[in-house]
Amino acid sequence: MDMFCIEGGVPLNGTVRVGGSKNASLPILAASLAIQGEVIVRQVPQLQDIVTMSQLLQSMGAIVETREDGSISVDPSQVKSSVAPYELVRQMRASVCVLGPLLARFGEARVSLPGGCNIGHRPIDLHLRGLAALGADIRLESGYVVAEASKLRGAEVDLSGPNGPTVTGTCNVMVAAALATGRTVLRSAAQEPEVEDFARFLNAAGANISGAGTSIVEIHGVRALHEVCHSVIPDRIEAATLALAAAITRGDVTIQNAPTTHMTSVLNALSLIGVPHDITQDAIHIRAGSILRPMELTAEPYPGLPTDCQAQFMALLATVLGESQITDAVFPERFMHVAELVRMGARIRVQDNSAIISGVAQLSAAPVMASDLRASAALVLAALAAEGRTEIRRVYHLDRGYHAFEQKLNQLGAKVQRVRDETMAAVPRPHLEFSRDRVPNT
Ligand code: EPZ
Repeated sequence: MDMFCIEGGVPLNGTVRVGGSKNASLPILAASLAIQGEVIVRQVPQLQDIVTMSQLLQSMGAIVETREDGSISVDPSQVKSSVAPYELVRQMRASVCVLGPLLARFGEARVSLPGGCNIGHRPIDLHLRGLAALGADIRLESGYVVAEASKLRGAEVDLSGPNGPTVTGTCNVMVAAALATGRTVLRSAAQEPEVEDFARFLNAAGANISGAGTSIVEIHGVRALHEVCHSVIPDRIEAATLALAAAITRGDVTIQNAPTTHMTSVLNALSLIGVPHDITQDAIHIRAGSILRPMELTAEPYPGLPTDCQAQFMALLATVLGESQITDAVFPERFMHVAELVRMGARIRVQDNSAIISGVAQLSAAPVMASDLRASAALVLAALAAEGRTEIRRVYHLDRGYHAFEQKLNQLGAKVQRVRDETMAAVPRPHLEFSRDRVPNT
């Protein structure tokens, strides 16, 4: 198992490029199961989660290949199984995105219920409610969701939940409705750019979807979806993480291929905190040198501040003198990173679904442990700003969502080393490898 050793205190400087979006790629790859023809997806980032999704599709009989240009092609014609096994779903919750496509294609699906998650309570009741509204019979059986529908019919579907709409739930119901008979209206649909990109992909395959990106989506069912080639949007969360890495080191960095039109809330928060920056259509230039201000921020469903940037903003505000507060309205318990930041000298206490941060002039290096994808990104940012050499264990969490993160940071002058963690050597880890011919089979 790998860990990072980071020598902190170096202001980042230079130019870096953002890759394709993980959270746009995953539901799109899953939806290839419902397509009659070859699916080619471009700009897919090379990440562990993409490997897991590819292995899931292959376990059902799809042929998945990574092509010379890095795009992924999926041939779903040989898919015979409509089962998503526990072994794969437990590795990645987004595996649940195969539920809607399998139901639409086979009229049945057997998908393992995703287990617990470090970022909080994550039920899939809204996914099931939406699919049931389209006429699916749904039951839980030995830890699996079993869904059956001889015919899916268009319907009015309300996707509002206690913490707002559901992103992957909107995608699951949208693809099922795209192949249902008649008209569906999704109310309280998630408005994330990844959902809009998902609808763009389905429409390119012959679906008839309008209003994606707003809270009301209208879908007129079609008989079949045909072969399609689609480029996914850039990763707004990776772009925000790199911008915050520049800000926390008080560096001067240009982030290219940044989807700035998808990042208004993030850029507004940077302005409120006083991080000097300039933006263009597809680039953000973070400039050094200014006194930053403490701030109260709330993570909310899009177009609000992304919960996937909450931890990274907390790392920054931990270095800004004065009292700040961060509330997470999407995952109210998403504070696993707090204790590790406190180990690095941050002064943070959690109260209900908020973290109260009393900024300090200097963080200090300490051995810390990553608990989930975005928490690990926050620990890397804190280590870049900290005095001394920090060890971050379990960086496999980071590899799930950031491609070659240490190379990108070192390109900006950081001192990040990836080394084997001998203390954890015994613990087996799924192998991450991208060969040019085929994605490795389980
Ligand atoms: C997506 O997860 C993202 N993952 C998450 O990113 C992101 O944090 C989340 O959306 C919110 O933006 C992918 O796109 C693969 P939700 P998803 O369903 O779809 C509650 C990352 O770091 N809820 O929108 O699983 C739920 O508990 C990951 O890249 C229900 O109550 O999230 C949460 O409080 C982490 N019932 C809220 O809604 C449901 O059926 C939003 O969850 C579904 C969700």
